[in-house]
Amino acid sequence: MDLDFTRHRRLRKSPGIRSLVREHHLHVHDLIYPLFVTYGKQVKNEVPSMPGVFQLSLDQLEKEIEEIVALGIQGVILFGIPEEKDAEGSGAYDEAGIVQQAIRLIKKTAPSLIVIADTCLCEYTDHGHCGVIREDRVLNDPSLDLHARTAISQARAGADIIAPSNMMDGFVTAIRQGLDKTGFKDIPIMAYSVKYASAFYGPFRDAAGSTPQFGDRKTYQMDPANGREALREAYSDVVEGADILMVKPALAYMDIIYQLKEQFDLPLAAYNVSGEYSMIKAAAQNGWIDEKAVVMEMLTGMKRAGADIILTYFAKDAAKWLKEGN
Ligand code: PBG
Repeated sequence: MDLDFTRHRRLRKSPGIRSLVREHHLHVHDLIYPLFVTYGKQVKNEVPSMPGVFQLSLDQLEKEIEEIVALGIQGVILFGIPEEKDAEGSGAYDEAGIVQQAIRLIKKTAPSLIVIADTCLCEYTDHGHCGVIREDRVLNDPSLDLHARTAISQARAGADIIAPSNMMDGFVTAIRQGLDKTGFKDIPIMAYSVKYASAFYGPFRDAAGSTPQFGDRKTYQMDPANGREALREAYSDVVEGADILMVKPALAYMDIIYQLKEQFDLPLAAYNVSGEYSMIKAAAQNGWIDEKAVVMEMLTGMKRAGADIILTYFAKDAAKWLKEGN
């Protein structure tokens, strides 16, 4: 018989050969772990829709940080649950706000751990939207001042990276100018450049108490049906001075991760969001899937698509599994 076909299986023959030709590797340094910080003492509330994820009070944070550092994880992103909410989300830019306090504490406990501050208002506003409301509309420009104030207060507390997730137009310009004017020229901005109006954020809104009290986020977050618009969104963030771009969610948007990686030369982050976490947890708890195998396949897939950085609630698990070796 004439052998006029290619034997791809030669390179799959043994674990050694497979490892030799493996194209992408997940590394613990790729991972960022999200943390939810809240007021009170001895608070460690498990989020019902996110098994293994907790709202933590500051006195619980030190232990958590030590664990994260011991696992070799390089960075965390912080979300705050304030004591009180108001129309202007003032808890977001309060110098003594919960995230500001958490940043100070973490920088004291583990100075080299990278602290990323999520910059948004929705956890702090009584209406649950990411900006200022007038007659049931989310206003763009008046919201920018508050986002800039939030970013400045987070930088002042010691945040290493500012990550604006509010999807107002011009948020990178507003925050860059605000940081530059207040002596924080060297603080990078990781922009949630391409953030879709996604149902995959459901469990996060339980965790952070940030569900919109009326309407939805479709006038500021992107339509899941759009791909070319993602490039326009990313382009304006690049022009405005973003240092790192982000795509969010990740799983249903692998094509967008790939396209941003091809089009732009900035580092690229992917947010493996709450709903993606909950789906896997629920299936694993039912014994329907092999959690470890599925998680590693998913995270490696995100790297293959082009992500340099992955924000994931699986960061601690993945770090453990990477340590054990696959
Ligand atoms: C705040 C914010 C959200 C998430 C990160 N930052 C929620 C939202 O936009 O409603 C979602 C994260 C997740 O689902 O894991 N704007």
